[in-house]
Amino acid sequence: MRILVTGGAGYIGSITTELLLQAGHEVTVLDDLSTGHADAVSDLATFVKGSILDKAAVKIALRDCEAVLHFAGKSLVGESVEKPAIYQETIVVGTQILLHEMALLGIKKIVFSSSAATYGEPKSVPILESAQANPTNPYGAAKLTVDLMLANSAKANNLAAISLRYFNVAGSLETASARLSERHVVETHLIPNILKSSSDEPVNIFGTDWPTPDGTCIRDYIHVIDLVEAHILALSKLLAGRHEIINLGSGQGYSVREVIAAVEEVTKREITFNNSARRSGDPAILVADISRANKLLNWQPTRTLQEMVADTYAAH
Ligand code: UFG
Repeated sequence: MRILVTGGAGYIGSITTELLLQAGHEVTVLDDLSTGHADAVSDLATFVKGSILDKAAVKIALRDCEAVLHFAGKSLVGESVEKPAIYQETIVVGTQILLHEMALLGIKKIVFSSSAATYGEPKSVPILESAQANPTNPYGAAKLTVDLMLANSAKANNLAAISLRYFNVAGSLETASARLSERHVVETHLIPNILKSSSDEPVNIFGTDWPTPDGTCIRDYIHVIDLVEAHILALSKLLAGRHEIINLGSGQGYSVREVIAAVEEVTKREITFNNSARRSGDPAILVADISRANKLLNWQPTRTLQEMVADTYAAH
């Protein structure tokens, strides 16, 4: 079947496009290249350059599609605090336009790229999908709004929808012609930042006084290939009139110091770091309960933190 991948020139969208093509699907990519890269889009996909906010472009991109994997949007928590309107517009208004155009064309299947940022500061970990969603930043709030919109459309319009709530995604995919990976102009993520650090420019550890065993924040890292495999399974599990929320993580937590140790092990180099102040908005611990993904998608992540680091390193 033909699938529309919005944001298909971005990190996760481009890897999804590649794996969908390998699985025998036809793919249309819609991306305005504001943060994505044209060279990340497979030549085998149909590419529509345009914004999710542009109705005409969305309509063209949806032609002949049976389902949508919706990644397009903005994804930096810090930026969302400074520029909330941009996050509401691209994530909420963009999805509204997409859903409207899908409805006009009778397309009723969507898998949405949601986020663990919807939960905010969790009351207990690991985090279940039934935990109270209480986002602490505009990015998480916008993702949560879309989750609620999808639930409403499932009930009212018989939409088949799944929101996948990602934890911390890392790693890359090597294709016949390229290595698809994270490529941000301003890098804020931990693993790439550790990899690009040097003794002259050490990586900052944001807080060493957190209530965790070694005092640094704990996160749940998941390999992008495991994550994308879950999307492809989700496509086959969509049910008319239903909206499901499913966490995607590895179910295991690693502290910032443990991630630094994994980078040292993989790269065989000593990492220099600064013990810095806490970064505002960071929760101490975020770890997913992934039993729902195991059960509903029949999915299990298989790749280790070391593989995530090695695959991010290979792309550097
Ligand atoms: N960190 C550092 N130094 C750095 C970068 C990060 O110590 O240079 C720490 C952060 O404080 C945090 C951890 O490493 O404790 C991970 O930080 P990232 O920026 O890599 O990722 P986040 O956990 O902040 O955010 C990720 C996604 C968001 C998503 C969120 C949901 O990037 O899109 O997970 O939990 F919203």
